[in-house]
Amino acid sequence: MKLRLVLLTLAILWEELQNGACQQVKRRKEAGENRIRPGSKRVKVRYPKVKEKDTVGRGQSILTQVLDKGRFLRLGENVSLTPGKDIELRCKGTNIGWSYPTYLDTFNDSRLSIKQSDKYGQLILTSPSAADTGTYSCWVILCDGSECLKDPDHISSTYIFFTDKDNLFVPSAIYFEIVYLRPDRPSVIPCRVTSPLAKVSLHRVVPPEEMEVDGTLVTYHPTKGFILQKPSPEHQGVFYCMAVTKAPPQISNKYQLLYVEVPSSPPYVTIEASLSSASGGDNINITCTVLGEPDVDISFTWTYPGQGNCYSAPLGVGTLTQPCLCAQGLRPVSVRDSWRLINRGIAHTTRISQSVMAVDDLETIDFGKYICRAKNKNGETAVATSVRAN
Ligand SMILES: *[C@@H]1O[C@H](CO)[C@@H](O)[C@H](O)[C@H]1NC(C)=O
Ligand SMILES: *[C@@H]1O[C@H](CO)[C@@H](O)[C@H](O)[C@H]1NC(C)=O
Ligand SMILES: *[C@@H]1O[C@H](CO)[C@@H](O)[C@H](O)[C@H]1NC(C)=O
Repeated sequence: MKLRLVLLTLAILWEELQNGACQQVKRRKEAGENRIRPGSKRVKVRYPKVKEKDTVGRGQSILTQVLDKGRFLRLGENVSLTPGKDIELRCKGTNIGWSYPTYLDTFNDSRLSIKQSDKYGQLILTSPSAADTGTYSCWVILCDGSECLKDPDHISSTYIFFTDKDNLFVPSAIYFEIVYLRPDRPSVIPCRVTSPLAKVSLHRVVPPEEMEVDGTLVTYHPTKGFILQKPSPEHQGVFYCMAVTKAPPQISNKYQLLYVEVPSSPPYVTIEASLSSASGGDNINITCTVLGEPDVDISFTWTYPGQGNCYSAPLGVGTLTQPCLCAQGLRPVSVRDSWRLINRGIAHTTRISQSVMAVDDLETIDFGKYICRAKNKNGETAVATSVRAN
């Protein structure tokens, strides 16, 4: 009886879906990761009725690989494939979301194509290479009006190894990667391999030594890398991984492990003007400085007497300086943001981020209050200083 009621409800909902009550979400946007905002209101979960033979049981993968001659392989936890050979994945459902290694999005890769037909979603990746090794997932998208979410019971994931004997490690664009060690959480040295059969070891550069992998405090997983459960200052240094199959050993990129002990909080900011009282025609610099966690980006915003706001985006790793001119306002000034890492004792690495506002040839309009706002993911701090006329 109950079942019949449920089926009836499903049938009605199915009608609604057919009538277009369900808005399709933009596929490109959905791909990559689930972007449903955490604070958004919960959406009632509705199940579109599917044809009996299409019904997939809870826990059974909805993700299949299309093999030659129209055969399908239901994909499990992982699969090893040959690079160079195009792959086609399918997921049953009228509205399917996908995720795949973010690398494919970063480079806006034209080898990747995602399509939706009325019965299934399709992902095609042409000429895959070792670098495409990673997690591929699909899920049924359920919609209530314009709000859509992942159906938690119909998500499937597989980890694809594109096994390449010349690239035992998944190639990465970052040749020297920084790994932050924090006392309160595990750290991952991401030397992933393209073959689950590779034997991988972890090595310190100076002094040259192999790290013990005990299976509890230090473990290795082919899809993640080395995991340090309880990072400590002794783990600092430069490391690389070594992989062995039948062929000669290969080594990975290098990883710099840095220990961080700064608590997560809004930025700690100081502001200083090169002159606190000046005369017309003087040049001044106002410097806003933040000391904080090495991997937390800071963005600066300035408010100053001669103009409204001047914004400069956070800098990417490796970018040391990036000038930003705020010239739309009354008074052109220049702002230069930069950051670098500094070592403070053995167990401390701190990031020093600075924004310097330079005002040349002071005019009357430039006297007054300079406010610097520094923002990180934990909050914002504003500091001010005044420049007075002599
Ligand atoms: C691959 O999947 C199997 C189960 O299908 C699992 O036992 C194995 O640990 C997985 N291997 C990796 C490297 O994740
Ligand atoms: C990505 O590629 C598509 C088509 O190949 C193109 O229309 C789009 O502008 C590209 N986006 C970026 C950010 O390069
Ligand atoms: C302001 O800083 C720049 C470097 O950022 C420096 O070259 C210049 O001399 C400084 N000017 C003053 C007035 O301190």
